[in-house]
Amino acid sequence: MAQRLKISSTLRCDVLIIGAGGAGLRCASAVLEKKPDTHIIAVTKVASPQKSHTQTAQGGMAAVDPRDPMDKPIYHMFDTWKGSDCIADQNIIKKIVEAGWEQAVWMENRGMHFTRREDGKLNKRTFGGHTVNFGESSAFRCVFEADRTGKGIMDNVWGESIKGGTKFINQAVVTELLMKGDRCVGAVIFKQKEGEFVSILAKATVFATGGNGQVFKVTTNCRQNTGDGNAVILQADLPLMDPEAIQFHPTGIVGPGILASETLRSVGGILRNRELEPFMEHYAPKMKELAPRDLVARAIETEIREGRGILNPDHNIEHVWIDLRHLPDYVHDVELPEVSGFFKKFINLDPKKDLCPVRPSNHYQMGGIPTNENGEVQKNQRETVPGLFAVGECAAASFHGFNRLGTNSLLELITMGKFAGEKIIETLGEDVPHAPQEAGERSFSLFSSFMAAGGKDNLGKIREAMRNLMTEKVGVFRTEQGMTDAMEGLRELKERADKTALASRSLIMNQDLIQRWELNNLLDNTMVITKGALNRKESRGGHFRDDFPVRDDTLHYHTLAYRTAFGNVQLEKRPVDMSLYEAKGEHYEKFGVIERKY
Ligand code: FUM
Repeated sequence: MAQRLKISSTLRCDVLIIGAGGAGLRCASAVLEKKPDTHIIAVTKVASPQKSHTQTAQGGMAAVDPRDPMDKPIYHMFDTWKGSDCIADQNIIKKIVEAGWEQAVWMENRGMHFTRREDGKLNKRTFGGHTVNFGESSAFRCVFEADRTGKGIMDNVWGESIKGGTKFINQAVVTELLMKGDRCVGAVIFKQKEGEFVSILAKATVFATGGNGQVFKVTTNCRQNTGDGNAVILQADLPLMDPEAIQFHPTGIVGPGILASETLRSVGGILRNRELEPFMEHYAPKMKELAPRDLVARAIETEIREGRGILNPDHNIEHVWIDLRHLPDYVHDVELPEVSGFFKKFINLDPKKDLCPVRPSNHYQMGGIPTNENGEVQKNQRETVPGLFAVGECAAASFHGFNRLGTNSLLELITMGKFAGEKIIETLGEDVPHAPQEAGERSFSLFSSFMAAGGKDNLGKIREAMRNLMTEKVGVFRTEQGMTDAMEGLRELKERADKTALASRSLIMNQDLIQRWELNNLLDNTMVITKGALNRKESRGGHFRDDFPVRDDTLHYHTLAYRTAFGNVQLEKRPVDMSLYEAKGEHYEKFGVIERKY
């Protein structure tokens, strides 16, 4: 018998944060610091904020130290612009880069244990594409906590949020945005343990739901990164920006795909092919292993495509090697304890003695929910949605354009979380809005359809087929034919999913139900990624078309993708902010649509 679904209770708060990772909780901390009595509810899909994906970040956070005689913010702005393949927004680049150091200090003052050198000064790393003097040599501007920087950040912002009285709701997912006219008034969540829908009304609602890495077969992303926030935004008829801009990290550990930090190359690790040749000099003669990720990932895939990879007999996967054997014990033991442990634990290799197998693994969505420089969500080129904010990986401000530089994501999530928090404070004088009459209907209709399906297919197999299809056809290398096939295949998978019965129809702690809902979200993500990539007939950053291998600057705009129904995606254009170039200040010519060589 069909169950009647209902809203079990309605909560009211000042600020609702959906997603309790680094960005969401930095936002909460920023609000609480200035307005300590603010009532904040933070909802997380996982059992505790400590399980958030931010926790897994390894390498560090870029921030230009004003006392550094070699480095300058303008160099970091240039690297980010060039790294983005000239399509990030320059107003965002300026705002974030200029705020970076203050945020590193903010964290250290609140207990972050950044790694220091023997003389007590902060230690700093270089990462791919970070340079001084506009590409002259590597910049050492990344602060870090060994190779577990994300854990330090989470301890920090989680602690600050708890101290300020944030209320947490764990193991709950957002199923619907609540709108009254044009204004966002909160969201409906589904509490997994209780099997209940709850509507939460808020003066400000912040999406901080992370990325969509689970769209792909091999990913560094956590299990929970199923693009839920993206999908809920699309289902509310709002757009995603640049969904086709997906990053593949060059070095996932072969097999599990777990991140083997770029730090490995920063400290001198060398990529080698089957002949043990250090091949990066053929692809990026100057920066070699420290070229940006899109270039290194393509170089590795090219080595494999051209027969210079190594076949791993256990996983039947081809890979290249990263050689760390020449590094001093201190580097292995003190700077890379986590990653060294991963190689030992997951594939039984000792990086001090063995060559380690790596190959690109999906890592990051550069696109996402479009926002302005305060994290306010945009519904089109001109207008924002009052009451709605987005920060962190689910959002696109856009700081990264079509290729993110390593260590720029932690910088972005900390700064944008703060900026959004400061903007939210301005809205706190308003009354908590009332619920719209139709609250919950969209969620009930979706969940009822999951419950009503009666066919005998297997949801796990459908999900696996989707991930294989996306990796094969919409991965590092893309073509018109491959992506057209992918669209067709995805439609078939959606049809199969819609007809598949759940193993259990209980609402309480029903993992089959949650995975069915996630599959729906993943499929919505796949459609906008693929449609955006099909439409972009050029290669730019992480989006590489074998059939259009060159950047085409007549296509120098952001994609805005709207979903009208599954498979129906409408695309619009949004201009790229060129304010650094247009200001005609010192070095403005570096911020034109420049050639990208490393
Ligand atoms: O390679 C890494 O440690 C990852 C850093 C990042 O994605 O910023």
